[in-house]
Amino acid sequence: MEILCAYFSRTGCTEKLIKEIGGRLEKKGHSIKWEKIQTTEETSSFIELKRDLHHYPGVFISLFKKSWRNHFINTYTQTEEDIQPLMFPDVSQFDRIIIAGPKWARISYPVARYIHSIKGLAGKKLGSVSSFGGPPLPVFELELIEKSMNRIVEEAGASIIAHLGISSGYHELGLMPLFRFVNRIRFCRPLKDFTIGSDHVDQQIEAFCDVLGGE
Ligand SMILES: Cc1cc2nc3c(=O)[nH]c(=O)nc-3n(C[C@H](O)[C@H](O)[C@H](O)COP(=O)(O)O)c2cc1C
Repeated sequence: MEILCAYFSRTGCTEKLIKEIGGRLEKKGHSIKWEKIQTTEETSSFIELKRDLHHYPGVFISLFKKSWRNHFINTYTQTEEDIQPLMFPDVSQFDRIIIAGPKWARISYPVARYIHSIKGLAGKKLGSVSSFGGPPLPVFELELIEKSMNRIVEEAGASIIAHLGISSGYHELGLMPLFRFVNRIRFCRPLKDFTIGSDHVDQQIEAFCDVLGGE
C-alpha cells in the first residue's frame, strides 16, 4: 500500500515515534511518503498553552463526568495554528494516511489545521498517532485525544481504523514530576515501561501497523 505519514512534532518525540512506525511499515513492504507539518511561526510552549486555556476547565470536568466528556468532545471549538505549505496538499493518491502529533490537552493546533487543509480525505482509512508526557491514562490521555481525533476526521468524511497513543516521558512545560507521581499511584510501574523502547510500546506499535497495513 501507498501510505502517507503526516506528522507535527515540536520537540521531536512524535517524530521519533512516527519514524519507527514508518520504518516498520516499510519493512512489511509498504511504500511510505512523509509530510512534516511545520508552523509558520515559532511560539513558546506557554503561549501555545495560553491560546487554549479557556478549554481547560472543560477538560478538567471531563475527567470526572462521562456525560460531560462526551458533550465536551463533540462540541468544543478546536484551536488551530497556521502551517507552512504542504508537500501533499491532496491525499487522494494514498491508500492509508497516518496523522501524528503531540497531545495538547486534545488535538495539537497544527494537526487540526492540517486536517482542515488537505483535500481528498473523504472516504479514507486513517491511523492516528499521538505522544504525550504522562502515562497512558485511559481517560485523560487516551480518550480525550482519540475521541477528538475521531470527531474531526469523521467531520472530514474519513474514518480512523487504528489509534496509537504513547507516552514520551517528556513535557516541555515541566509537568513530568507530577506525571511520574500519578503513574506510580495508577500503574505501580516506572514510566519507562510505557515509553518508546519498552516491550509494551513495541507490541503496541506492531499491533497498530498490523491493523493499518492489514485491512
Ligand atoms: C500546549 C501543550 C499542551 C500539552 N498537553 C499535554 C497533555 O494534555 N497531556 C500530556 O501528557 N502532555 C501534554 N503536553 C506534552 C506533550 O504532549 C509531550 O511532551 C509530547 O510528547 C511532545 O511531542 P513532540 O516532541 O512531538 O512535540 C502538552 C504540551 C504542550 C506544549
